[in-house]
Amino acid sequence: MNTRVLTGITTTGTPHLGNYAGAIRPAVRASTQPGVDAFFFLADYHALIKCDDPARVARSRLELAATWLACGLDPERVTFYRQSDIPEIPELTWLLTCVAPKGLMNRAHAYKASVDANAEKGVDPDDGITMGLFSYPVLMAADIVMFNAHKVPVGRDQVQHLEMARDIADRFNRLYGDDFFVLPEVQIEEEVATLPGLDGRKMSKSYNNTVPLFEGGAPALRAAIMRIVTDSKQPGEPKDAEGSHLYTLYRAFATTTQSDVFRKQLEEGMGWGQAKQALYEKLEGEIAPMRERYDTLIANPARLEEVLLAGAAKARRLATPAIERLREAVGLRNLNAEALKKTTGSGKPAEKAAKGARFVSFREKDGSFRFRLMSADGSELLTSIPYADARQAGAVLKRLPSDAALQAQGEGFAALLDGAAVAQSAAGATLDQARTALASLAQG
Ligand code: TRP
Repeated sequence: MNTRVLTGITTTGTPHLGNYAGAIRPAVRASTQPGVDAFFFLADYHALIKCDDPARVARSRLELAATWLACGLDPERVTFYRQSDIPEIPELTWLLTCVAPKGLMNRAHAYKASVDANAEKGVDPDDGITMGLFSYPVLMAADIVMFNAHKVPVGRDQVQHLEMARDIADRFNRLYGDDFFVLPEVQIEEEVATLPGLDGRKMSKSYNNTVPLFEGGAPALRAAIMRIVTDSKQPGEPKDAEGSHLYTLYRAFATTTQSDVFRKQLEEGMGWGQAKQALYEKLEGEIAPMRERYDTLIANPARLEEVLLAGAAKARRLATPAIERLREAVGLRNLNAEALKKTTGSGKPAEKAAKGARFVSFREKDGSFRFRLMSADGSELLTSIPYADARQAGAVLKRLPSDAALQAQGEGFAALLDGAAVAQSAAGATLDQARTALASLAQG
């Protein structure tokens, strides 16, 4: 089975070099590996937690969409979307909110930091703290488990959020008695997870020490690099390369051999000015071709919008059936279907029931995979035999509408493929309902 890798970037700022090296570059690289099924999204609901400036949120969504594509993300290959285009995400957030322990959220770093800051100021502990900030980890958990991501590449500051996502997903699974969610694992790129900024602290917008990725072009990139803080050693004096963040930055963009040469040059007295110029050239070499694509994309927002909406449609092909199953699991069920389950025989004309018929896949406790054929009103028509492999179950499901033969069997009926029964009727379902449902699915 493919590994599902998923990550999001909050749309509050203009992408900087730290975002690129720490998140975008490794994510884009990972997405081209065989066996990887990648999901990337713009966390624009998360943006609202941190930013109440609509223009900035809007601009950042545009810039980030253009950035990811310019950095080589292939929207045909991966699933690339905006969080806010997936209504199933806030819906799942609520289902998870109802199982997430408040005590767990109390321990979230971002929330605790705000509480501590308030204590220092001597104001109410929750002064200025919104429910958005408090519930941030639940929304993030929903982002991840909605698509059953196995691996989540993030910065170190997000590790706790991943632990919380696992905890919440695990609680939901236990409470409702099935493996609804995969428990996600955090993935940290050891080498470059956090880049130092101009002043040596972590590169971050909040420290105002960032190097812009594309905005401002080559001149802005060069100007930022020239502002990198160094010690006051003169040209000719040996430098402590390992201790300088200029070297750390260089290393994140160079091969080991190139880095070794750079380090040696510093140790042998290369001036800081010259070192900065070398760093600039190194960066510009990697960035220039991407910047060109970026500028073209930014100039064509209609095209970007199209790409994102197509990505959302792709994501929702998974999210919609998943949320249906979850609603069913927690008891938010079609009343009609409940009634139908209890009475024998159907009260509905088969034709009507077939409109919007669908398959719902699920996993048994023993790990096997099954699917159900559901009528439009949510009543169960067929349940498949168990399959060891999700792909196998998927292949059978795909063939069913056009290739299955329905055959009366005892009090019910079965669906046969190549002469073998692959699904049995549910109590109360009629042959006619199943036939019409399958016919409607065959049409498409
Ligand atoms: N909180 C993440 C950050 O600030 C962004 C994010 C939101 C995210 N949802 C996510 C990352 C889901 C990974 C998975 O960096």
